[in-house]
Amino acid sequence: MKKNLRSQFPLLQADNELVYLDNAATTQTPSVVLDEIYKYYTKYRANIHRGIYDISEHASGAYEQVREIVARFIGADDISQIIFTRGTTESINLVAHGWAETHVQKGDEILVSELEHHSNFVPWYEVCKKTGAQMKIISLSDDFTLDMDAYARMLSKKVKLVCVTAISNVTGTTNDISTITRMAHEYGAKVLVDGAQGVAHRSCDVEKDDMDFFAFSGHKMYGPTGVGVLYGKPELLASMDPFLYGGGMVDLVSLEEVTYRDVPTRFEGGTPPIAQVIGLGAAVQFIETIGIQEICNHERMLSDYAHEKLSKIDGLTLFHPVINGSSILSFSMKGIHPHDIAAICNTQNIAIRAGHHCAQPLMKRLGVSATARISFGIYNTKEDIDALILALHAVQEKFI
Ligand code: ALA
Repeated sequence: MKKNLRSQFPLLQADNELVYLDNAATTQTPSVVLDEIYKYYTKYRANIHRGIYDISEHASGAYEQVREIVARFIGADDISQIIFTRGTTESINLVAHGWAETHVQKGDEILVSELEHHSNFVPWYEVCKKTGAQMKIISLSDDFTLDMDAYARMLSKKVKLVCVTAISNVTGTTNDISTITRMAHEYGAKVLVDGAQGVAHRSCDVEKDDMDFFAFSGHKMYGPTGVGVLYGKPELLASMDPFLYGGGMVDLVSLEEVTYRDVPTRFEGGTPPIAQVIGLGAAVQFIETIGIQEICNHERMLSDYAHEKLSKIDGLTLFHPVINGSSILSFSMKGIHPHDIAAICNTQNIAIRAGHHCAQPLMKRLGVSATARISFGIYNTKEDIDALILALHAVQEKFI
């Protein structure tokens, strides 16, 4: 990173000693994003797509402009492919209810990788329960990468949907999305990619990688909480039922008939998260100003450094592919519960995550009930990792 970006984040400025290593849970918010949200609330707060007066039209314009910003950012052809939701979980549930429940049936199969967060696991479990389809798990290899041979063997005409994460929120495994989609498409299966941990760390191009659905959240990419995106291919979105029925998404309503607006408005029932969408637009522009490749290089440098340092600690097991460089690394320490590791780090003002990370099937595969996890953002430095390593030695001294 050419310059240390910490100064652009008010929270990190307020606590200059905080070592924040829980960016996979949520990132911090830069001033440029906060400013845009403040501007909306103080200069043109109004509901959108309803008011025939200046501030409402201003708010509608600002909201719709973010669709363009997001479409360009992820390489989508058309702004109507961008649906604003309240986060990745809602985006995936929209596909589960709106598409899978009507397009998947008994005898079909849904493939879900063993790396998935519960939000890309439980909706498919429920779809299969309702439709009688079968959910099958693409296993993880011992090197923490997806077993692509197993995946190849599982593909058949029965598979209707493949659900994979771009980057695992536990191991940091980075999946080869273009290969996964190419293989699935040979059998006519669709692919949903959970981009929550990918979109702020790697270039994610929905067209290039030929994704059918792509879901992500604003709050893991320096934007506000309460906003997310679902991208879908036009023909898939056109064949989807709405998920939230109500105001804003209808054309005509009578006792005899209800007609719905076109995609994407059809899927944005109720007053949407207007301030959050505006903040999301500012977050995308913030990332673009730095450059996703610059971010990726910086985080790879941190990841390699952390991998090397963590590997040297006796009794520490890393759950992270060796050749990876992603911004997320999980580990355990012999005889010490991950919650104790996180609690002791906290006494030194180092924020890391410990737990099952909403990925219990993966924990079972790793043979643990929980891990400790560090995850980087653009403001992290080698000094943050050095502070963590010192804290981990202190943890060992206390427990061993
Ligand atoms: N999904 C978020 C995480 O992995 C909350 O921490």
